[in-house]
Amino acid sequence: MRTIIVLNGPNLNMLGIREPGIYGSDTLAAIEERVRQLGEELGLAIEFFQSNHEGAVIDRIHEAFGRADGILINPGAWTHYSYALRDALSTVALPVVEVHLSNIHKREAFRHHSVIAPIAVGQIAGFGADSYLLGLRALAAHLERG
Ligand code: DQA
Repeated sequence: MRTIIVLNGPNLNMLGIREPGIYGSDTLAAIEERVRQLGEELGLAIEFFQSNHEGAVIDRIHEAFGRADGILINPGAWTHYSYALRDALSTVALPVVEVHLSNIHKREAFRHHSVIAPIAVGQIAGFGADSYLLGLRALAAHLERG
């Protein structure tokens, strides 16, 4: 069975409370439950991790090396500037799908650029919690293609 690590960056633990007009009213736990269910349908084992600390997420990425098959990540604001996170993802060389609840391309200019996107298989943004489900399907299809 393939293993997918689902990572969430800073402030995403506050989903449900945080700017619901932008991010929706689902909690991260509710989103993770939907992802877990889809993973079950797709025959994937899913592990979840959220942290507000960049180093903790980087450690988790390193731990995935040689053990996991892919990474689904919402890097939050780190998307826009974290070369350390990007380097960690490149280091383990696992397929990465980047997801965002909001459409970062129609928001403030600083959100238009992702330093993660160039090392990702692809990016899905703007579909709320469904971005995670679409991202998981895309990652599963990518892995199937080998
Ligand atoms: C986000 C978009 C980022 O710009 C923002 O900093 C977030 C959430 C999203 O899911 O839409 O924390 O990644």
